[in-house]
Amino acid sequence: MAAAVVCIASWNADLVSRIPRPLARGETLIAEGFEISPGGKGSNAAVAAARQGAAVAVVARIGDDEFGRMALGLWEAEGIDRRHVEIAVGERSGVAQIQVFADGDNAIAVFRGAGAGLGAAHARAAAGTLATCRVVMASCEVPLACTLEAFRLARSLGALTLLNPAPAMLLPDELLPLVDVLTPNEGELAALAGPAAASVDEAAALLLARGVGAVVVTLGSAGCRLYRRRADPLHEPGRRVPVVDTIGAGDTFTGALAAALARGELLPAAMRCANAAAALSVSGRGAIAGMPRLHEVNALLAGRAA
Ligand code: RIB
Repeated sequence: MAAAVVCIASWNADLVSRIPRPLARGETLIAEGFEISPGGKGSNAAVAAARQGAAVAVVARIGDDEFGRMALGLWEAEGIDRRHVEIAVGERSGVAQIQVFADGDNAIAVFRGAGAGLGAAHARAAAGTLATCRVVMASCEVPLACTLEAFRLARSLGALTLLNPAPAMLLPDELLPLVDVLTPNEGELAALAGPAAASVDEAAALLLARGVGAVVVTLGSAGCRLYRRRADPLHEPGRRVPVVDTIGAGDTFTGALAAALARGELLPAAMRCANAAAALSVSGRGAIAGMPRLHEVNALLAGRAA
């Protein structure tokens, strides 16, 4: 089946330690738990989109190591097209060291490994797949050169572009006008907009003025808000859910949004689906265990049990 969603994807094996609170500099704490689980903002979003029923392909670079094999196994199990995955001989796969605190919040250090070698040529090699898809998504965990080329191609071939600007960084002026939908959290939005913006509203307006098509700001338990030019902001309230951990909630939001847009939903409806999917995702341990299927999102939106 031709991919409806293409993800320019980072892949990390997540090494997750559970500790009561954030570490102080120079401190050692005994962890109460540890697990190795699938991660990477791109791979997480790809899995989220696949679970929402989209045919998904990833463009990625992984190492020829145990963690690389873990990625291939995951993508196969989730029905994700792996034909544009390069296995880099002699290189390590990406790794994320994650600390989860008692309240479910986390801190993450990412080593991108082979993923750091993803470039414009990888996007060009996937041009045939980009030509027939409906949505191309990326995060800031992959090199910008690859995202830029993929978004240029997507634009010229008629696909929508979706960028999760995580981790937070300044983005080049040439990229923003190629972004149809940007999905920052509040911190990423502030970093992108800079000190000139004093509020979420002002920061979103600034990014729209720099050429982004629409900004969907994720607000954690407060839900999310959609900003477009010449339209009032649209707020989608948060949902009260028990939190195991929030790893991958933003990635689930982006992936579910991509899947909804790919099946033809308009942005307000797609945002509702993404908001519900992200709320459900925090009920599981690690990035993907809690990621819901489409029927679970539909049940939550309809107010019934899945
Ligand atoms: O957004 C969560 C993800 O960030 C984790 O899976 C980790 O790999 C880092 O990429």
